[in-house]
Amino acid sequence: MPAATRTVLSVATTAATATTRSATSAAAATAASPPARRILSGIQPTGVPHLGNFLGALRQWVQLQDQPAQSVVYSIVDLHALTAHPPVPPTTLRDSIHNSARVLLALGIDPKKSILFQQSQVPAHTQLQWVLTCVTSVGWLNRMTQWKTKAGSSPADTAPPAALKMGLFAYPVLQAADILIYRATHVPVGEDQHQHLELARDIAKVFNTNYKINLFPMPQAVSTSAKRIMSLTDPTAKMSKSHANPKSRIDLTDSDTQITKKIRGAVTDSDASVTWDPEHRPGVANLLSLYAACRDLDPASLPEGELKGVVGMANLKQKVAECVVDTVRPVRDEYLRLGGEEAYVREVLEEGNARARAEADATWEMVMKAVGMK
Ligand code: TYM
Repeated sequence: MPAATRTVLSVATTAATATTRSATSAAAATAASPPARRILSGIQPTGVPHLGNFLGALRQWVQLQDQPAQSVVYSIVDLHALTAHPPVPPTTLRDSIHNSARVLLALGIDPKKSILFQQSQVPAHTQLQWVLTCVTSVGWLNRMTQWKTKAGSSPADTAPPAALKMGLFAYPVLQAADILIYRATHVPVGEDQHQHLELARDIAKVFNTNYKINLFPMPQAVSTSAKRIMSLTDPTAKMSKSHANPKSRIDLTDSDTQITKKIRGAVTDSDASVTWDPEHRPGVANLLSLYAACRDLDPASLPEGELKGVVGMANLKQKVAECVVDTVRPVRDEYLRLGGEEAYVREVLEEGNARARAEADATWEMVMKAVGMK
């Protein structure tokens, strides 16, 4: 296991398996009891997964496969990718779905331990989404940071810009459906997804209460210490697949030379000393966070610890580049090898789709009964 995947997980177990307190009717007892621990997460195929995805979420996906759980389910959420603006061209989306599966397999997702599948191939996600849309208040969705950021500053009393679509507004409800259709208890994600998780809990709670059934557990986020890796070109913004400038991120498929060049070009400041000061020195803090996450250390400890005596940004960047190269190399090499295994990657997804369908359909049956459609 690479050093980067050894991070200690902070699994929020407190209320993980607790179901809503307000749904305690006799009907609750008749629903199948939720299993102890079910893990679910997803990634959008909007480009190649990057170092932020890896350090913030994906390496935990790998670790969680080896912990006791009733099921471990990972999804390439292509329906969510349709909310991108401008739309992802069909050939690009097709390639990105395949390449995301390749990256996930390359970094250690093992189809014998986890279900790896393509969201759109499991219709119960969108079926449940509709039911959940009917219990989700517009006010909750209006408060979502992602929606507010994309909606910009358009005043509430004017029509939103044409680029703002219903799909984007309802995005978090589909995400809740992704989670709840597997009755997941633990969701390994980066910090930017915590608000969506909170909403999924609110939706689960209101569904359980309305239909007087203990069907959905309250899903909890599972986080690494690298909750938010920032852009290399703007350390006040998170590293993102959709950013126009490829120098802002390190893709898990980048060569050693590309990684080194991107880190050499990272925005820092004119102070030669190496200090941990995220507020005033976000660029340096981001480099220290990268180093710390790759080596499984506390970033604040580095200036007086492993990086003691390192002076000057060129020297710091050299150290960071070396450890990022070490972290990415095994993933990239395996990704390249899987380039010659197209049929295998397709088979993994097809088998995962079938297994996910069986799990999701079982919950959908319960939902139909709970709401009176069956
Ligand atoms: P996505 O595709 O943007 O990102 C996948 C995962 O990577 C994490 N992440 C980061 N972590 C640290 N630093 C960063 N700069 C960074 N950028 C991304 C994300 O938090 C995420 O865990 N809405 C989700 C996809 C989704 C999903 C779900 C996730 C759809 N349905 C159900 C969990 C459960 C998203 O856009 O992830």
